[in-house]
Amino acid sequence: MSNQSPWLSRLLVTKPLDVLLKESQESGAHSLKRVLGPLNLITLGIGAIIGAGIFVLTGSAAANYAGPAIVLSFVLAGTACLFAGLCYAEFASLIPIAGSAYTYGYATLGELFAWIIGWDLILEYAFGAATVSSGWSGYFLSFMNDIGVHIPAALTASPGTALVQYNGNWEHLARMQNTFLTLGIDPATLPQMTASFNLVAFLAVLAVTAILVIGIKESANFNSAIVIVKVGIVLVFIAIAGAYVIQNPETTIEVNWKNFIPPNTGDWGSFGWSGIARAASVIFFAYIGFDAVSTAAQEAKNPQKDMPIGIMGSLLICTILYIVVAGLLTAIVPYSSLNVAEPVAVGIDATGVKWGSYLVKVGAIFGLGTVMLVMLLGQSRVFYSMSRDGLLPQWAGKVHPKFRTPYVSTIVVGVFVAFFGALLPINILGELVSIGTLLAFVIVCAGVLILRKRRPDLHRPFKTPWVPFVPIMGIVISGLLMLSLPFDTWLRLIIWLAVGLIIYFAYGRNHSVYKPA
Ligand code: ALA
Repeated sequence: MSNQSPWLSRLLVTKPLDVLLKESQESGAHSLKRVLGPLNLITLGIGAIIGAGIFVLTGSAAANYAGPAIVLSFVLAGTACLFAGLCYAEFASLIPIAGSAYTYGYATLGELFAWIIGWDLILEYAFGAATVSSGWSGYFLSFMNDIGVHIPAALTASPGTALVQYNGNWEHLARMQNTFLTLGIDPATLPQMTASFNLVAFLAVLAVTAILVIGIKESANFNSAIVIVKVGIVLVFIAIAGAYVIQNPETTIEVNWKNFIPPNTGDWGSFGWSGIARAASVIFFAYIGFDAVSTAAQEAKNPQKDMPIGIMGSLLICTILYIVVAGLLTAIVPYSSLNVAEPVAVGIDATGVKWGSYLVKVGAIFGLGTVMLVMLLGQSRVFYSMSRDGLLPQWAGKVHPKFRTPYVSTIVVGVFVAFFGALLPINILGELVSIGTLLAFVIVCAGVLILRKRRPDLHRPFKTPWVPFVPIMGIVISGLLMLSLPFDTWLRLIIWLAVGLIIYFAYGRNHSVYKPA
């Protein structure tokens, strides 16, 4: 450090570990409330993980990129997450602070990197919640239509979305193209309109924000109740689809799985092994969220012991469920017919169980609801930590005296996310969320390697096994998944980070609490 210019030292100043450890032990009216046990943390993780990824993206990823080998894509993306999860677990038990990857970066790589990670996490949490709110509104409207409640169509999608009326319901034109093609219908002959605002997504985010302001225990209990319902519905799907496959192996496994890895079409990412990698980068979205458990570290009763349980427990449970669901789905339906908005509902319909698709829609509505909850929780906790370090204004760190939640940042984040979800199209957001999350994984894995070298003496309640193998593999696989994402997504990431740097040099750098010694 001593040979560095003062300017560089200022940018690379690290937050002292003893300060962090002291912060992690705070209690009293101005601190967050410690009420979460290991079970709450596992359900928080499952609440964040199971959502649009499995209920929406699996179908198009199988149909367009991997075929039945989508199962291997789930294994690949799950492996990247397991490596990254082990690194998160080490940090979350060592530095149990609400800032998660942002704080780990501050302790190891320095302020500039910490800011970049904090800014990057907005892509994961705030944009993640906005993406999911948009997907949630799709399932909610479809369910309401099924039970005969019609919401004005113009208020059900982001501005400019083309809608078409089919069978009495307003649907997204883009999602219906395949159906129309198959049925030989010319959409120009049907009534069409353009949406102006996604009021349904907007109100959903505000409702979730209200729960988060009221209290962490209330939020966690609400989350746990819903997680039980959504996991229950996933298990019902597995039971129905599993029984169908066992009874009809000649029309399922022997036909639909016959061509398990469809040959590559000649283009990179279109089936074959490259298709498996491409599909893995798409369905990676399904795993996002286990790391959000680490943002609840200051609200856990015993974070040193329970953080690794929450992170790894939720991740393992969801990985197993995903692999089984993806396998059964591609066994009961030919993969080419899965390119629809509700692939799991299509799958259960194929088994002949009439009430199945209602059940799946209810599961998705519940499922996506808790994803929004945990993502918004994560975002407000990261802002809370950044504000306490002076990188964001003080109001973002204000804790409500009665509810003991960071209410100002929760409300500000909630309102912004509500507008994003109501105004922006879902497809652009999704891949940006994935690349942002993968970048955070790379940095957290690198952070473990760096801190092991710099401070081997620290008492680590949970140690990542097989260091350096696990962090290096976390970096390599996450990096490969990033490389599998389109160039446009990279461009958006770079622009986003550049905007963040401008804000850092205009504000954070001058207000930061920590100065070089
Ligand atoms: N994993 C979350 C989902 O799939 C983000 O919705």
